[in-house]
Amino acid sequence: ADTPAMGTLRIRARAALGVDRRSGRIVGVATESDAAPAQLVREWTGEPVGDGDVETTDLGADQLLMPGLVDTHTHAPQFAFLGLGHDLPLMEWLETYTFRHESQFQDADLARTIYADAVRRMVRGGCTMAAYYGTIHLEACCILAETIRDAGQRAYVGKVCMDQNAPDYYSETTDESLQATEAFVHAVLGGQSAADDGVLVRPIITPRFAPTCSARCLHGLGRLARDHQLPIQSHLCESPAEVAFAKECFPDCVSYSAIYHAAGLFGPRTIMAHCVHMSDDDMRLVRECGVGVSHCPNSNFSLSSGVADVRRFVDQGIPVGLGTDVSGGYAPSLLDAMRMAAAASRTLVAARRDSAQPAAGSPLDAAELLFLATQGGARVMGMQASIGTLDEGKLFDALVVDFAAPGSPVPPPSVTPAVLRHQQADELEQAWRLRIEQFVFLADDRNIARVYVGGRLIHAL
Ligand code: GUN
Ligand code: FE
Repeated sequence: ADTPAMGTLRIRARAALGVDRRSGRIVGVATESDAAPAQLVREWTGEPVGDGDVETTDLGADQLLMPGLVDTHTHAPQFAFLGLGHDLPLMEWLETYTFRHESQFQDADLARTIYADAVRRMVRGGCTMAAYYGTIHLEACCILAETIRDAGQRAYVGKVCMDQNAPDYYSETTDESLQATEAFVHAVLGGQSAADDGVLVRPIITPRFAPTCSARCLHGLGRLARDHQLPIQSHLCESPAEVAFAKECFPDCVSYSAIYHAAGLFGPRTIMAHCVHMSDDDMRLVRECGVGVSHCPNSNFSLSSGVADVRRFVDQGIPVGLGTDVSGGYAPSLLDAMRMAAAASRTLVAARRDSAQPAAGSPLDAAELLFLATQGGARVMGMQASIGTLDEGKLFDALVVDFAAPGSPVPPPSVTPAVLRHQQADELEQAWRLRIEQFVFLADDRNIARVYVGGRLIHAL
């Protein structure tokens, strides 16, 4: 199962999918075919293949293959205080807990411990690609990149930049920030091309957010991104106090987005987290520049930031994916992000209906949520041609979901009421639709039996 477009759930029951072990790519998909595996591979590749050359796995009646989940926004150092500190709103939360904690990552041993645990949790939860923030420390960021590579996960990793409005125990000069970023880019790429989608771990330019970066820092980062063809990530319009502070820091800019835009940081390789409190000018710049939005509903609820309007982005053709934003968000899980995104969209629909506002729209459904967590996220990452669906030619980043796993929170199909079953002609396809809806709202790590990245098995229960 996969979601080639927003709202389109594609079920291919009785299907076979072939992966080339060398390239890690999908070489073909066959539906309703009784052909032997070697025969299918011969058709897909046009090469003479013997029965012994093909390794096959039969998923059986309770397992399903789906694309890996994409987390478009998370902070690796913040895994250390998951579930804690949500008594304060964003700006106070940053000053009181986050900066103090992140400053400790000058200690490489701490980084090793926390990052190993963080990446393991992400992979177990079915996340095959993530956009990570590290801290300002070059060494710890290199450790994060190495840890991810060792785990076999696909990722963008960013060295956080902050050269103003930061406490002196956790700050850097403009030159330090730019030089360390450039050093990090070279260290992670090691001569490989940032444009090569097969490179597992790649650097991403990461100004923390406009308030903590000087204009010279932002412009320098914009130049680095352009020179090395790199993606960019930051935070945008997360809370009302943060928006006001950003504008205060850059009084010449007409909107928060205009700050990033003026520095050359707004383009189709840019990921902006949150986008809750967007002015018309913010919407226009994001749309016109092809910026992708990372919707982080758990964080937006947990820090009382507000409720982002995903439907509005989608309707305007703005790419949207999901982010866990650990630990502004308390759950490092894209399943949780899908559920929180559902709650956020229903909250908006209900609030608008009750205040008789126009264009309440419809809440996000299971197929739309799964799209946001897979192909939507892939598009935000600039990877829509490489991952996100189970199409021929794409990298095989995928999950085997097991609905009969021990302790599975998803009930067996035999208990599904008849009124919900068999609504369409194809019974088998309809049964899978219901299970996928239950996957979105009920499943957990116990249902994620195997995780593949680039054709490589990186996790199995
Ligand atoms: N804005 C700037 N830094 C952060 C951060 O670490 N988390 C969140 N949620 N917002 C931010
Ligand atoms: Fe964040």
